[in-house]
Amino acid sequence: MRKFNTTGNGLRSSRRDFLRKSAAGAAAASLFYSTFTIADEKIKGANERIGVGFIGTGGRCGAHIGICLKLKEQGRCETVAVCDVYAPRVKSAAERTGGKIYRHHKELLADPKVDVVCIATPDRHHAPQAIDAVRAGKDVYCEKPLTHWSQFDLARQLGEETAKHGRIVQVGTQYVADDAYAEIRRAIADDVIGKVVHVQAGYFRRGDWGERMHIPDANAQPGPDLDWEQFLGDAPQVPYDVSRFFQWRMYWDYAGGPATDLLVHVFTPVFCALDLGFPQRVFGGGGTFEYEREVPDQCNILVDYAGGPSVALLNSLSNYVPLKTVLRGTKGIIDWEGIDGKENKGARIVSFDKKVPEKFIPWRGMGDTGKLWTNFLDCVKSRERPYSPIDIAVKVQAPLNMGILSHRESKVVLFDKEKQAIEMR
Ligand SMILES: NC(=O)c1ccc[n+]([C@@H]2O[C@H](COP(=O)([O-])OP(=O)(O)OC[C@H]3O[C@@H](n4cnc5c(N)ncnc54)[C@H](O)[C@@H]3O)[C@@H](O)[C@H]2O)c1
Repeated sequence: MRKFNTTGNGLRSSRRDFLRKSAAGAAAASLFYSTFTIADEKIKGANERIGVGFIGTGGRCGAHIGICLKLKEQGRCETVAVCDVYAPRVKSAAERTGGKIYRHHKELLADPKVDVVCIATPDRHHAPQAIDAVRAGKDVYCEKPLTHWSQFDLARQLGEETAKHGRIVQVGTQYVADDAYAEIRRAIADDVIGKVVHVQAGYFRRGDWGERMHIPDANAQPGPDLDWEQFLGDAPQVPYDVSRFFQWRMYWDYAGGPATDLLVHVFTPVFCALDLGFPQRVFGGGGTFEYEREVPDQCNILVDYAGGPSVALLNSLSNYVPLKTVLRGTKGIIDWEGIDGKENKGARIVSFDKKVPEKFIPWRGMGDTGKLWTNFLDCVKSRERPYSPIDIAVKVQAPLNMGILSHRESKVVLFDKEKQAIEMR
């Protein structure tokens, strides 16, 4: 059995040095930032605005900025800083928000006006930037996926650092922004559907953002306006390529295809209903059958948990017919429509015992990014557990990363619970 290196594709020495130095500097940093943490948040007062800094001001950030502008009108928060490696985007984000421009996330993190950060960079920057943020005493809204498929060790490390520094981390899976999951959990605890032994979930659609990602300037070149080295981070150091920079979702070095882009959205709600830990073994299948890109456009992952359930995660980017999420128990089922389903109004709880009436629990926020934000800001003040907490995100990330590794290497992938590590046979 061989241990798989999950710290990233050839972690560069500069990144290693940086992480080591960050670890060594953590004590000093926490001293430096110790005036900004829970104590200050209390002093800040319930009516004071929370200062938001955006790291990565591309497509997704546009939606977050729109939400924060509305929340500013309600006196909830205010954008104080914006950061991007591509100057035209960060300038337009600054014009829209009035936030101060930064070109490196560590400079933004050193700004005392920044209370919380929203990270919406390409996948492999999420964990390193979020680790820097929690060490700097900031709470974090981190876009999904928690990490790139090659970085499970960083996902785990982010979980540990978040706990150590007592930070709030909300992961951007908006389909869990709903109190209905608490009712679903209660029904399962009350044994209405028996032992849950099988789960299916899927994400189906026609087309994908990889191909649709816009190249705003085909002649853009590395220089003062475009920091290619910072874009690469710990990824393989390849020469500049305009498609890699603007259409990064098509490439394995920066993205993982439907598993980490889409299946994360349908799998995380399952964790809000069931207490799943780390899986026993994972098989990944699929392929690139329609679009011209490195990452797959069809992706199927089977995840086995010791003692159950067995989970089937299914995806196609060539056909939009949705698939219900179904939790199959020994005495009944709980189901809800797939994300693109037009009738996705709530969850059904159905017992096979005809004497037990069917129950319908309407969604009250599922899929609403605005609700994920208000919950995040509430938790920043109350220090309560957010809808999409880091511990769930780490447990979701493991099987998704394992599915991608399995697909890439045509091997079954195991999880060593003692070592908390991914292993391949
Ligand atoms: N929750 C959702 O429904 C949802 C929807 C879309 C995207 N997302 C996630 O948001 C993230 C961003 O996606 P996008 O579509 O906005 O991509 P994008 O390419 O439009 O934006 C990413 C931005 O990050 C910048 N960037 C790259 N490296 C950086 C670095 N080291 N420091 C600072 N800035 C850097 C880029 O220049 C770019 O402006 C992805 O991880 C994606 O999975 C989530």
